[in-house]
Amino acid sequence: MRTNDAKTRLIPAADIKEAHVPSTSAYNELVAQAEADHDGYWSRLAREFLSWRTPFTQGLDDSQAPFFKWFEDGTLNVSYNCLDRHVESGLGDKTALIFEADDGQVTRINYRALLERTCRLANALKARGVQKGDRVVIYMSMSIEGVVAMQACARIGATHSVVFGGFSAQSLRDRIHDAAAVMVITADEQVRGGKQLPLKAIVDEAIALGGCESVTNVLVYQRSGAAIGWNAARDRWLHEEMQDQPATCEPEWVGAEHPLFVLYTSGSTGKPKGVQHASGGYLLHAALTSQWTFDLKPDDVFWCTADIGWVTGHTYITYGPLALGATEVVFEGVPTYPDAGRFWKMIQDHRVSIFYTAPTAIRSLIKAAESNETVHPRRYDLSSLRILGSVGEPINPAAWEWYHQHVGGGRCPIVDTFWQTETGGHMITPLPGATPLVPGSCTLPFPGIAAAIVDETGNDVPNGQGGILVVKKPWPSMIRTIWGDPERFKSSYFPAELKGFYLAGDGAIRDADTGYFTITGRIDDVLNVSGHRMGTMEIESALVSCTALVAEAAVVGRPDDTTGEAICAFVVLKGARPSGDEARKIATELRNWVAKEIGPIAKPKDIRFGDNLPKTRSGKIMRRLLRSVAKGETVTQDISTLENPAVLEQLAQSN
Ligand code: PRX
Repeated sequence: MRTNDAKTRLIPAADIKEAHVPSTSAYNELVAQAEADHDGYWSRLAREFLSWRTPFTQGLDDSQAPFFKWFEDGTLNVSYNCLDRHVESGLGDKTALIFEADDGQVTRINYRALLERTCRLANALKARGVQKGDRVVIYMSMSIEGVVAMQACARIGATHSVVFGGFSAQSLRDRIHDAAAVMVITADEQVRGGKQLPLKAIVDEAIALGGCESVTNVLVYQRSGAAIGWNAARDRWLHEEMQDQPATCEPEWVGAEHPLFVLYTSGSTGKPKGVQHASGGYLLHAALTSQWTFDLKPDDVFWCTADIGWVTGHTYITYGPLALGATEVVFEGVPTYPDAGRFWKMIQDHRVSIFYTAPTAIRSLIKAAESNETVHPRRYDLSSLRILGSVGEPINPAAWEWYHQHVGGGRCPIVDTFWQTETGGHMITPLPGATPLVPGSCTLPFPGIAAAIVDETGNDVPNGQGGILVVKKPWPSMIRTIWGDPERFKSSYFPAELKGFYLAGDGAIRDADTGYFTITGRIDDVLNVSGHRMGTMEIESALVSCTALVAEAAVVGRPDDTTGEAICAFVVLKGARPSGDEARKIATELRNWVAKEIGPIAKPKDIRFGDNLPKTRSGKIMRRLLRSVAKGETVTQDISTLENPAVLEQLAQSN
């Protein structure tokens, strides 16, 4: 159990001029307001932060819990809130996006131009028959067009489903199929780290796998100009589709509960879940957290390094900052190209004032900086920075300290933001002007978020004692359902024994003195590798689908210095257990197989072969034991039920 290290290092809240939430007492006041009148608190903010076409008359509707609704009779348009209203209020010339391509080329686009481009694409989508409520899959690289594609869907009330460009044809096909998408928007290729990687070819492959008959059009953004396959009945160039379209497009005014997007994420069992978000409640929290957590102000230059294929890119690139009329950096490339100083150089060049990234990136850049002085952040002018953020996985105190000292010059608060695809936006996070910081802790719940730690029966556990992280009250940006599977939504997030609380799937502990939260990791079979969420079952299914080779497979995570967790697979082959070169060859083959089935991010780092897997008498794989083996620990569990204890020795050997 974690000891109380809060005493050793509590960093006072930053003294920020005119911070949105300026002090601990201001934070406490907001928390008290929300506690006294949850509905009134959120309704007030929804009126303040969003422009409604028709005002709502009711905040929360819990009559069909856990299918909660917020602001249901209000109507609005998300893209109107992100674009038009800023142009109408005289901010048309303000830079919205500073796009930096992989090769360093910079393109700026102001709010007026971004609105026009969004309208042209929105009109083009309509011209191809896309209607309100239709699903559009976006399989794009980081680009202005990627943001425009999402905004254009929102404008016409189409529900987008962005699929990360690193997913394989099979994964893409599964998502297109599950969402029954009518259109795919993609690029010819993506360019990352100096390499050109296919996108359109993967779309072709996905559709050829079958089950994507709903797709009638594929729009292709020309990024690299590479030669690509073309199906004249289905494929269209994005620029040709847009060129003759009018630069205005009346927004589709939708009800607040209208599904803005479905984003697939991994669960502990079965196939990825399509997390469905609403329009009004989601946008409210995207805008609100962008403002309070980052203290985002009109003169800031905001940079979230996430990809639009993940929820962080949705909320803190496409929606939150734009809803506030902010200026933000969008980056096509990778942090290590042309060298590991890329992030620092971009902060310097664009005078970035708020920087939001993942612990994995920080850890790998620490390694790089320690072995090569020329890419150390101290070689760059980072004086524009005022706030740093972290997201996606726990940030270990050593990485926190380095980030604080070397990137933030010891003066920038770090907001360690805990949240999930399902939560839509930040749940537990410091507010920079209000919350004293403790390295490694995401500190306190965002005002209005009723986060708590309970035992298996839903009862509160005292501070200092670990338990299950839950949220006791509904909040506006929460997941509405799993696309096409309401039963799975209920059983995954609102299990009967937890008294109707939202189950996050993470363990947590509150510090005995400060009440600060520390996330202790997933309590289900979900892994977090480089901040990417992956289900062990998904990887196991991918491995056993290699029927020519694999008889059985079990996947667990083990701690990794750089990626947080690493994937370790235990495999029983159909043939004899291989060793030496043969084992290495088969391990490589299996890694490539998983990359083809899911995507390169799911490749196991470690593959180990055994004659069988350790199981209980009832035939359940002993995962806890495998976790110990993966870590290289001596096994302390009872192994008396193991049929073949020698298998543990086999499985301890890496290939
Ligand atoms: O385990 C938690 C971890 O990431 C999970 C959510 O993953 P995903 O839905 O992909 O969203 C990632 C971006 C929000 C959580 O269940 N996680 C996320 N942020 C943190 C974290 N763990 C510790 N500290 C965080 N700040």
